[in-house]
Amino acid sequence: MYIVRKIGELKNILTDLDRGKIGFVPTMGALHSGHESLIKRARLSTDFVVVSIFVNPLQFGLNEDLDQYPRQLAKDEEICRNLGVGLLFIPSEGDMKTLQGDTTFVVPPISMMSALCGKYREGHFQGVATIVTKLLNLVNPDVAFFGQKDAQQVAIIRRMVDDLFIPVKIESCPIIREDSGLALSSRNQYLNPVQKQEATVLYKSLQVAHDAFLAGERKVRVLLDLAMEELRQVSTIEVQYLDIVDPVNLQPLDTITKEGLMAIAAYCGTTRLIDNVMLKVK
Ligand code: PAJ
Repeated sequence: MYIVRKIGELKNILTDLDRGKIGFVPTMGALHSGHESLIKRARLSTDFVVVSIFVNPLQFGLNEDLDQYPRQLAKDEEICRNLGVGLLFIPSEGDMKTLQGDTTFVVPPISMMSALCGKYREGHFQGVATIVTKLLNLVNPDVAFFGQKDAQQVAIIRRMVDDLFIPVKIESCPIIREDSGLALSSRNQYLNPVQKQEATVLYKSLQVAHDAFLAGERKVRVLLDLAMEELRQVSTIEVQYLDIVDPVNLQPLDTITKEGLMAIAAYCGTTRLIDNVMLKVK
């Protein structure tokens, strides 16, 4: 496995490579089974897998966890090696030109940025779109893999790639969960054992709504109320939003006719967690 820190070296290796189809998995490191599932998917459907690790300052708000974001490079390297990654790209902030206020930004549609998490994380998706564009331009992959865990991120990246004619296929992969239902996240490391148990209510609440949906309920208001009722069972969980939107353009729905993305963000102590489920008419 190549471990590359410099952009020039990345370009040289990728140019010289007799490589077939390149699969790309961008990450911020602290890799867990969620990331691993993307890498495995990439390994199965492409010939050479590039993983990037870059904790992108552009997507963290002022009072967010940039400084304490978990970093475990040696372990991440080992995980990538064991999964058959071809190249691990670990650029520096300087090389990625991510100085706030001194970079060209890619700005997704306001309508998509003002939905769900975007309402509470100003500048976040602009930061994501900008870094993903930079990375796609550097790696130039055939397919890039993203987790459905960050459903708003995937929707925005799909739209961005389409709007900007970036020649890459975006593949979205299912959410990987613990046995308890808790969606895996690098931020779960911040939770103590009690909080980890309490946090399972996010998934449970989505499941209650999903069950009602499968039983025929299509009204968004009713589905949201059912999930809220479940969430209220755990008084320490503070819901930031719970919503059902169109999964492609992220606009609000009253009734689900084809597909609805039910998404939640909630605080468990000081840790912000997100989860979602797709409500799809069969
Ligand atoms: P990060 O949070 O490290 O996640 C990297 C990728 O792993 C994302 O596509 C995310 O959706 C996926 N992922 C995380 N947890 C998952 C889970 N439980 N199941 C399935 N996939 C999961 O998302 C980012 O980094 C950044 O925003 C990035 C795209 C790298 C841009 O900086």
